[in-house]
This record gives sequence, structure tokens and C-alpha cells, in this order.
Amino acid sequence: MSHSPKGTGSLVSTEGTRHTRISGVGGYRPERVVTNAEVCTWIDSTDEWIRERSGVVSRRFAAKDETVVDMALEAAGPALEMAGITADQLGAVVCATVTHGYRTPAAAPLIALRLGANGIPAFDVGAACAGYCYAISIASDMVRGGSADHVLVVGTDRLSEATNHHDRGSAFIFGDGAGAAVVSSSDVPGIGPTVWGSDGEKWDAIRQRLSWTEIQDRSERELAGEPQDWSDAGAEDARSASTLIMSGQSVFRWAVWSMAPVAQQAIDQAGITADDLDAFIPHQANMRIIDAMVKQLKLPADIPVARDIAETGNTSAASVPLATERMLREGEVPHGGLALQIGFGAGLAYAAQVIRLP
Ligand code: UT7
Repeated sequence: MSHSPKGTGSLVSTEGTRHTRISGVGGYRPERVVTNAEVCTWIDSTDEWIRERSGVVSRRFAAKDETVVDMALEAAGPALEMAGITADQLGAVVCATVTHGYRTPAAAPLIALRLGANGIPAFDVGAACAGYCYAISIASDMVRGGSADHVLVVGTDRLSEATNHHDRGSAFIFGDGAGAAVVSSSDVPGIGPTVWGSDGEKWDAIRQRLSWTEIQDRSERELAGEPQDWSDAGAEDARSASTLIMSGQSVFRWAVWSMAPVAQQAIDQAGITADDLDAFIPHQANMRIIDAMVKQLKLPADIPVARDIAETGNTSAASVPLATERMLREGEVPHGGLALQIGFGAGLAYAAQVIRLP
């Protein structure tokens, strides 16, 4: 027996604004400064090698009890203030992170609660170093589609916890921090089209050493008196098996060769040229990757380029908003100027867009 559909009327759809913009940004850097000299007490390396190969001079580590949610709140405050709104005006929170301590629930509902905006839609985005630029795109579409008027986007990561501090290939590169932005409606376009994508064939290139299931299985066997060998994962124990492993060289090559064309597409799709840019704010993965991208994009020599990695390290989802916040605060770029931003990393995932700075 066949059923005919009950509904005959058309559905009501939300209607948003035509344009969106970033109305405020904020950043938070934890107090503890970790120098290359300190890193070199954990791995066989030198300050000189780390500076030359990565550009990192120092990074910040969160305090033992400082979570990604704590850091997110510190970054959200100044972003809301710059946007000229209070938390009760937010329509949603989108949190980009890969280092929240719980598989579930997400960090975002706690951020909303502690901001005093409990009840609004709140969810996490797991796109690693591309997470912030992914979340800006999602938030912009939410505002354009009428699902929210103002969306808080936070990129917050505590990579010190996800790093094996004895791993020579990654111990020197990562740091902790949070950056936030408010996405709001606008009379004129303030967020250009996002050029984004992923490459699941390189899923392995940056990943947790072992899955949680594997870690649980081995830990159970260990508890049952069956000693486990973790060395196949480049780990010493269950804890270090949950840290990240990175095929540095292959990610480096991918970033250098594949990300400049993505950035160029973001410029083209925004309907501008490189000469129109007031800033280039790439993911802070490695100073040599930043230099290579500047060269390939043939950016005019006078365009300020974010080099926050020197003092902040690679903070994954926090890296682009933290670099943005620093450039604005230090007066390196003008409020209202155009910035090209691009995030890329584990997934592999990437996203780029031209935005008007708040
Ligand atoms: O945020 C997500 C995206 N992530 C990235 O984009 C990271 C991309 N990758 C990188 O930034 C770089 O690959 C690293 C900075 C991680 C490593 O730099 P590299 O130039 O690729 O180093 P490498 O692994 O090719 O090693 C070069 C040499 C080797 O020695 P030999 O074989 O040439 O004698 C290594 O053994 O440097 C040696 N080496 C070190 N020396 C001192 C490797 N790690 C270290 C170290 N200290 N920590």
C-alpha cells in the first residue's frame, strides 16, 4: 500500500543577512613561557637548530589545571568587547579544538555556560590547524542563513598535553593558547568565499599515535599483568601513546606546494588582487613554510606577514586568531584592512578566506 504525502503547504525557511563580517577578535596566551633551552633538556637538539628549522624561539604552555575551555573564555572576553556585544546577544558558539579532554560532550556548551549564554547552540569543529578557518566559514554561513545573528568562534588548543616531549620530531614545535572571533551580520561583504578541502589519503600524516580503543585494550592487558610494548607507536606508555605523531617532511612538502594555490584561489574568489591585501595571516606551522608561501604568492614586499610562531609556537586552531590579535594590538595592520588567512594541518584539512579585519 502506498502513502501519499500529508503536507501540502511549503516549509518556512530562515532568512539571513546578505553579508557577514568579523566584528571582534581576542587572544589568550598562557603565562608559562617555555624556551628552546628548556625543550633541549627533553630532546637532543639545540636552540640554533630549532630556530633555523622552525622559527620557534619560545612557546607558552598552559598550567596543569588550565583547560581549553578556560583558555577559550579568556580569548572570548576581548573578542566580545571589540564586537561591542555581550554574551547574551550570541546566537551560537562554534569551538575549534582537537585537545578538549573529553570525546564527548563538546567543549562549546561549557564555553556558552561559563560566558553566561547557557542554552544557545554550541558545538565543536575537529579540523585541527584548519579548525578556526573552517569555523569562520561555518559561522558566516550560519549568520547568512539566518540561524544566528552573532556567532562566537573560538580556536583553542592545549598541544602540550598532546605532545610526547621526548619526540625529537615534534616536541619543539607545539604550544598552547586560544583565539576568538565574533562573526556578525554586515551591510557590506566582510568575509570572502572560503576555499577549503581535505585529503583523506594523507590521514596518517599527523595523528594520535594509537586510537583510544587500542590504548584501552593495551592498558587493560597491562593491568591484568601482561606487560605491553608501546614502542611500535613511538611511545613509552599509555599516556604517550595518546600524543601526536607527525610525518614532518611530508606535511612540510604538502604545505609548501599545495597551500599557496589555495591561498591564491581565496584571493581570486574574493575579487581582489594581492596588492589589495593589508596582511597575510597564515597558520603558524613553521617559519620556513610561511616564507615559502610568501614567495610563491609573490606578495608585495610591504605586506605585513604574521610571524607569531616565534613566540607562540604552533597552537593549531588558535594560531590564526592569535596571530591576528597580535598584529592588530601591535598596530602592524590597520583596523578595517583586508587580510588573507589560511589554516592547514591534520586531516589533512585546509581552509582559506580573505576577511576584513575588525
Ligand atoms: O600544524 C600542522 C601542520 N604541521 C606542519 O606544517 C609541520 C611541517 N613540518 C615541519 O615544520 C618540519 O618538518 C619540522 C620542523 C617538523 C622538521 O624540520 P625538517 O627540516 O623537516 O627536519 P627533518 O625531519 O628533515 O630532519 C633534518 C635533520 C635530520 O638529520 P640528518 O638526517 O639530516 O642528519 C634529523 O635527524 O635534522 C635532524 N633533526 C633534528 N636535529 C636537532 C630532526 N629533529 C631534530 C631536532 N633537533 N629536534
